[in-house]
Amino acid sequence: MELLYICISLVSLTIILIVFLSPSKAKNLPPGKTGWPVIGESIEYLGAGWKGRPEKFIFDRMSNYSSYIFKTNLMLQPTVVFCGAPAHKFLFANENKLIQSWWPSSVDKIFPSSTQTSSKEEAIKMRKMLPNFFKPEALQRYIGIMDTIAHQHFAANWDNKDMIVVVYPLTQRYTFWIACRLFLSIEDPKEVDRFLERFKVLSEGLVSIPVDFPGTPFHGSIKASEYIRKEFLMRIIKQRKIDLAEGKASPTQDILSHMLLTADEDGKFMKEVDIADKILGLLIGGHDTASSACAFIVKYLAELPHIYQGVYKEQMDIAKSKGPGELLNWEDIQKMKLSWNVACEVLRLAPPVQGAFRDVLTDFMYEGFYIPKGWKIYWSTHSTHKNPEYFLEPYKFDPSRFDGRGPVPYTFVPFGGGPRMCPGKEYARLEILVFMHNLVKKFKWEKLIPDEKIVVNPMPIPEKGLPIQLFPY
Ligand SMILES: *[C@@H]1O[C@H](CO)[C@@H](O)[C@H](O)[C@H]1NC(C)=O
Repeated sequence: MELLYICISLVSLTIILIVFLSPSKAKNLPPGKTGWPVIGESIEYLGAGWKGRPEKFIFDRMSNYSSYIFKTNLMLQPTVVFCGAPAHKFLFANENKLIQSWWPSSVDKIFPSSTQTSSKEEAIKMRKMLPNFFKPEALQRYIGIMDTIAHQHFAANWDNKDMIVVVYPLTQRYTFWIACRLFLSIEDPKEVDRFLERFKVLSEGLVSIPVDFPGTPFHGSIKASEYIRKEFLMRIIKQRKIDLAEGKASPTQDILSHMLLTADEDGKFMKEVDIADKILGLLIGGHDTASSACAFIVKYLAELPHIYQGVYKEQMDIAKSKGPGELLNWEDIQKMKLSWNVACEVLRLAPPVQGAFRDVLTDFMYEGFYIPKGWKIYWSTHSTHKNPEYFLEPYKFDPSRFDGRGPVPYTFVPFGGGPRMCPGKEYARLEILVFMHNLVKKFKWEKLIPDEKIVVNPMPIPEKGLPIQLFPY
């Protein structure tokens, strides 16, 4: 009994000490509540996404606390959410100064070696070399390849007897096929499909409750990640080294050759395991996001016939200007102005990436509030994308928002910004436009489920995958 009493006193003393002596308590922390012990408000945050309204979590708190900033607790971390265009500007400008990139521990477990190396330096190195591959001039020569794949993809997967397809698994196939070809030169659609099956298992556990136990999505994800890196990517990398040495592979054929042959400024080449990791990261970053965007383009074009007509006309003018069998090129892409505005409006309303975390490197003040070192910062695309202050009638689909100078800086941020802006932005633009071109040239379509629910987990996806009825021309 006495022991129990001592324990209770110790516990309450500790709590009193924590509450009153914690240095951050004395300072002016941002308003907001931290929710349940340990899990905080993670369930509210994830739940808003499962219900298809990820922005609700953000806007509820913006209206209760402050439209600039509030505190919460996400992914087992005390977190401050930064909202609005000035916040985005501030975060992008202070990358690697006050803050640095951070991922929930579930992501680190699925990509283990990224935590073994000094990730900050690795990330900086990687960012120096990626632009060479992903810059517009370098990507131009891949437009024809993308067009060929799109053509084969639509012929093999969309044309069928009933002309009924479920869109999302198909857009996944399309973007994955392109990534496999441009990153690794895998051409065989059967091999692409086998690889994709493993990949889906990996993606499912990426943003999940990190319980590593047989049967959980998280466990499946770790296993799939190991398999893909060891059995799949390492095998391809080793073979490629031999092929390059024997002159059987070209130094410019894909990103793998590029990585194997590019040294950093100290003359060091990347290790094979690091290359495997980086390619895995690129495949995740570059395929699931774009497949979600492509699926939502199909959805919005089905719902908005006048927008479809505009895109159809633009793409048919381009198609008619070409000879039989002539592939799309860089000039054609430049003519797809309306189509890209439509894609941007889709990225505004259904951004594939909901937001991102940062780690606070040093204490600082923002908007009069104290932000303690070691806390996490979260920023959400929704805090500007769906904010009537920046986008009038934010839920209205209006591609003309992107005419002329387009939205106010730091308000349209589907690719992030600053030093960590998505390096694949141009790559995504090309594969999305090539997709739109081949799609509208071939078909009109109607949705088969009028009010299909949207689930955001972590990418937005129509709950049943968006089944549609196709009407070929
Ligand atoms: C916002 O405030 C209202 C009214 O006080 C309250 O009912 C609601 O739970 C609050 N929401 C959040 C997310 O704090």
